Amino acid sequence: AGPLRAAAAAKSRFIGYAAANSPLANEAAYRSIATTEFSQVTAENAMKWDGTENVDNAFTYANGDAIVASAAANNQVVHGHTLVWHSQTPGWVQGLSATAMRAAMQDHISNVVGHWANNPVVQSWDVVNEVFDENGGMRTSFWYNTLGQSFVADAFRYARAADPDAKLCINDYNVEGINAKSTAMYNLVSSLKSQGVPIDCVGFQTHLAVQYGFPSQMQQNLQRFADLGVTVRITELDVRIELPADSNEIAAQNTYYGNVVKACLAVTACTGVTIWGFTDKYSWIPDTFPGQGQGLIYDTNYSPKSAYTAVLDAF
Ligand code: XIL
Repeated sequence: AGPLRAAAAAKSRFIGYAAANSPLANEAAYRSIATTEFSQVTAENAMKWDGTENVDNAFTYANGDAIVASAAANNQVVHGHTLVWHSQTPGWVQGLSATAMRAAMQDHISNVVGHWANNPVVQSWDVVNEVFDENGGMRTSFWYNTLGQSFVADAFRYARAADPDAKLCINDYNVEGINAKSTAMYNLVSSLKSQGVPIDCVGFQTHLAVQYGFPSQMQQNLQRFADLGVTVRITELDVRIELPADSNEIAAQNTYYGNVVKACLAVTACTGVTIWGFTDKYSWIPDTFPGQGQGLIYDTNYSPKSAYTAVLDAF
């Protein structure tokens, strides 16, 4: 009968949520679930580049600090998200020359990671996010186009220098099963490890959709990464449905939620599962995938759905 965090702790895993600042500050019902059900927190937006350095060298930490303070007060750990990404990064970064862009990246990482480096609550970072395309090539982002692939290793080195104790992750989506994209990620992590680049963990976003099916061989995929000597984690879990949802889709959603938790539990190096929100009242899905929704484990009135029970029972 919960809370989720007790069930997860019994299996030595975290169960986390992505925090939105406004309801965390303003809605008691949101805050109550956020602080009692979960043992880990990721800022949904507050620690991204546009949230921390929208103007060059003018750092803004109030929203990130609010999430970290809530976590600290409730015995939760924080996963920093995210340092180097092609999205939610201001235009002033995107237009820089190679030399200036590398310097801006180092300065950003030093400042943002450094801001929370001495806070024991903030234990890990997504250093680079979504660097692959769907075919297994490097995404042709402004980072890659300007700096080439070396920006990845550089970002990890800058992050390690800024906080030697933080666990440093690479994070992506559509890499949960064994496919061309996850194999490219596997090869990159293997290469980074063999070069001595400081990488500790791999994040699997796990934005699933009932209509696309469950990722093939998820447990085996997590395990092959673990065998490289990194930990793995589920970082942004949700399971969207084409609306209106029917009972078959709800049943599949429950199965998917349970299967993700079971895949993590089956891999010793899987440290936990973060859900990308918790209530359908606040979810990126309807804004990003028109006509889809109901992807989380509480409904819009903060009642737990059957997906909540699926997660609880899988732990
Ligand atoms: C999303 C947030 O949920 C939205 O609020 C925001 O408008 C866009 O970004 N992959 C990621 C997350 O790594 O940072 C994204 O979060 C969802 C996809």
